[in-house]
Amino acid sequence: MYQANNKGPIGVFDSGYGGLTILDGIRKRMPDYDYIYLGDNARAPYGTRSFDVVYEFTLQAVRKLFDMDCPLVIIGCNTASAKALRSIQQKFLPFEAPEHRVLGVIRPTAEVVGRLTHTNHVGVFATEGTIKSESYRLEVQKLFPEVTVTGQACPMWVPIVENGEYDKPGADYFVKDSIKKLLSKDPQIDTIILGCTHFPLLNDKIRKYTPEHISLIPQGHYIAESLADYLQRHTDMDARLTKGGTCQFFTTESSQKFSENASIFLKENINAQRISLA
Ligand code: DGL
Repeated sequence: MYQANNKGPIGVFDSGYGGLTILDGIRKRMPDYDYIYLGDNARAPYGTRSFDVVYEFTLQAVRKLFDMDCPLVIIGCNTASAKALRSIQQKFLPFEAPEHRVLGVIRPTAEVVGRLTHTNHVGVFATEGTIKSESYRLEVQKLFPEVTVTGQACPMWVPIVENGEYDKPGADYFVKDSIKKLLSKDPQIDTIILGCTHFPLLNDKIRKYTPEHISLIPQGHYIAESLADYLQRHTDMDARLTKGGTCQFFTTESSQKFSENASIFLKENINAQRISLA
């Protein structure tokens, strides 16, 4: 059982580097808080893994962040949010950490869609796991039943980002191909959710090949707004979050490789430490 009134940083978890786009958005919005980022780079990508495996890996990460004293964990990964969040909230938290909180990224993203689409036709680029889970369609239609949601799995995009190829010419083919497939399924789409935290790193290429009238929704900004709003409404949780403006980084892969790549993503000098989750 985890302690009910401990104080500590906000934990942000992702299968790899993608959650850095969420962390970046949150830190810009709330720079005074302390953060711990955990990337399970050794086992990324999660996108094609089964529900059971994503749940097991995500739960290990959440436990680790709780062990590091985080009272609140953001699952900064759509695949883990789609496949593991509900089970963690229902099967784990009430029994082992009833005063701790774990939040995901799908609901806050779905909440903004109704405001942004004019045609009521929305597209989603995500991993195969997120698309198959239908989480975006279900969440968006719960809030905006008039909106049609069409998904397109982009299985090559995460490996392209994890391997640092996101700004190289080879990525163009895969980006163009997925855009073409999505728009041929529904030509009325005017808003596309980048439903994978890795995808903002491909933003320039996605923008280049997407017709100009279509808006792209990256998540970092909206997740940050939603978290700030959550903490305003939950002052008891806010009081448990330490505010020293620090950020520590942990990875399950080589700390040197993570530090190099994360420093490029975040444009600051990062010194990650390696840990084991299993
Ligand atoms: N960043 C994760 C997401 O938002 C996916 C990456 C992966 O497949 O591990 O879905």
